[in-house]
Amino acid sequence: MRIEPLVATEGNHNLSDYEKTYANFNWENVNEAFSWHETGKVNMAYEAIDRHAESSKANRTALYFEDADRKESYTFQDMKSLTNKAANVFKEQSSIQKGDRLFIFMPRSPELYFALLGAIKMGAVAGTLFEAFMEVAIYDRLLDSEAKVLVTTKALLERVPVEKLPHLEKIFIIGEDVVESETTIDFNKEFANARDQFDIEWVDLEDGLVLHYTSGSTGKPKGILHVHNAMIQQYQTGKWVLDLKDDDIYWCTADPGWVTGTAYGIFAPWLHGISMLVVGGRFSPQNWYGALQNYKVSVWYSAPTAFRMLMGAGNHVLEDYDLSSLRHVLSVGEPLNPEVVKWGNEVLHQRIHDTWWMTETGAQMICNYPSMMIKPGSMGKPVPGVTATIVDDQGIEVPPFTMGNLAIKKGWPSMMRQIWNNKAKYDSCFMNEEWYVSGDSAYMDDDGYFWFQGRIDDVIMTAGERVGPFEVESKILEHPAVLEAGVIGKPDPIRGEIIKAFISLKEGIEPSEELEAAIKLFVKTGLAAHAAPREIEFKEKLPKTRSGKIMRRVLKAWELDLPTGDLSTIGDD
Ligand code: WT7
Repeated sequence: MRIEPLVATEGNHNLSDYEKTYANFNWENVNEAFSWHETGKVNMAYEAIDRHAESSKANRTALYFEDADRKESYTFQDMKSLTNKAANVFKEQSSIQKGDRLFIFMPRSPELYFALLGAIKMGAVAGTLFEAFMEVAIYDRLLDSEAKVLVTTKALLERVPVEKLPHLEKIFIIGEDVVESETTIDFNKEFANARDQFDIEWVDLEDGLVLHYTSGSTGKPKGILHVHNAMIQQYQTGKWVLDLKDDDIYWCTADPGWVTGTAYGIFAPWLHGISMLVVGGRFSPQNWYGALQNYKVSVWYSAPTAFRMLMGAGNHVLEDYDLSSLRHVLSVGEPLNPEVVKWGNEVLHQRIHDTWWMTETGAQMICNYPSMMIKPGSMGKPVPGVTATIVDDQGIEVPPFTMGNLAIKKGWPSMMRQIWNNKAKYDSCFMNEEWYVSGDSAYMDDDGYFWFQGRIDDVIMTAGERVGPFEVESKILEHPAVLEAGVIGKPDPIRGEIIKAFISLKEGIEPSEELEAAIKLFVKTGLAAHAAPREIEFKEKLPKTRSGKIMRRVLKAWELDLPTGDLSTIGDD
């Protein structure tokens, strides 16, 4: 199928300049940026924190933190001591060893950053759990990863089914009046007394760094393992794509519960020794514009949903703020609509730069970076060192303007190294030994720009968060009134997609608004708020294949008023 480009080309840079600059790029060129190049010893936490604490940047602010209750800042020197303390706490109070999994389940706070980098300093694999997760979601992830240590808050501990997690040895609780037991430890108390010197555990570039669980279309969430080697690409994209300069104030709005919040909300900026802002709490246009103004943010990495919400709040809100410190604005997570780019130009006076990547890729892959021409609506071009293409279902490359599977040539530095406990799934992500197949459909134009078309699988992207329909369906099925459930993403102007569930009820149970509300609440409190369906439609019967699989494709066609295609395989039982 040949597709005509929708959006006209416009831009202000000379394409050939950029191509010349990067033509001879090789990932090995990046090694020199790191101290392990000379010492032979590597640890991400050292490169991100200690190296700067031992340099002229020691007294530079590494972290500005602000939420409704706290307003704090920490220098690189402070961060070195505080992450050392966290590492000592974990080492002395648990049996955790290099390679063991330590999970962090808490809202953003300075302690989250001390704990995460402290864990990495001692060689542990740091896992993160988004604060909205409820019991089942937490249980699945901690069980699958065999996490040995958990760091959480007093309030969130209630959602952790401790007695059902045999590998969980110690839980460090952050909060006031923590009641200690054999397994639960008062983090703040130990932290206050811990030594601020620590012998870093030196690891190999291929040793585990972070574990992020993400959703697929079928089955339980997948644990995506990244290794210390990811720093090569995270650093280099920090330079080219985030365009970080020494005196920047950088703000990535993502939570470390997701990969953007670690790769670009911790590693990339700190590998560059840049001052970074973290804003906790809920989104509000006033808070966000206020943060941009008050911290004089110069580089800002956010998501289309957030931009659309700011747009929706009206341009008059912006009139009270001075955003003149902004120099570079970027977006990730879902398609960046040309209208949003236009709003950026006219209202923020900033060209919003789209970037495409995913949990599995570990770093930015296809981007609009400052030195290249931008085509609004396009994700941009592969960063130097990355080869992307479009392949058909046999893994054969197709010509420009042909829609197909967006695929990346294996071997980029930050590529996932494992899907935890699931080699078969890992192997199935690659085609013909050569291509990593993303699950996105796209086409390439004849300038080599990529244009996102949609997901090939049924993964839902809602407000920039990836939700697996299977996980939601499984939770809905636990509700006593439900017989069957099928979950899809329904297009939504603000959130990109919202979650819609089609549900058939057990014999004798009648649909009602109360039941609808009860099922929504059931998913919200049992799985996660962001995974709860916003819409429910009750149906007598759901379309299924003969083998009994609910056909989400048909549900989607119903929703969008599209032809349902071939229904001959639908069972009539
Ligand atoms: C999926 C990955 C690590 C980035 C945050 C999300 C979608 C991501 C774009 C973009 C259109 C995008 C894709 C991708 N996506 N960036 N610029 N344009 N779609 O990471 O949760 O692993 O989700 O997000 O569908 O496969 P994730």
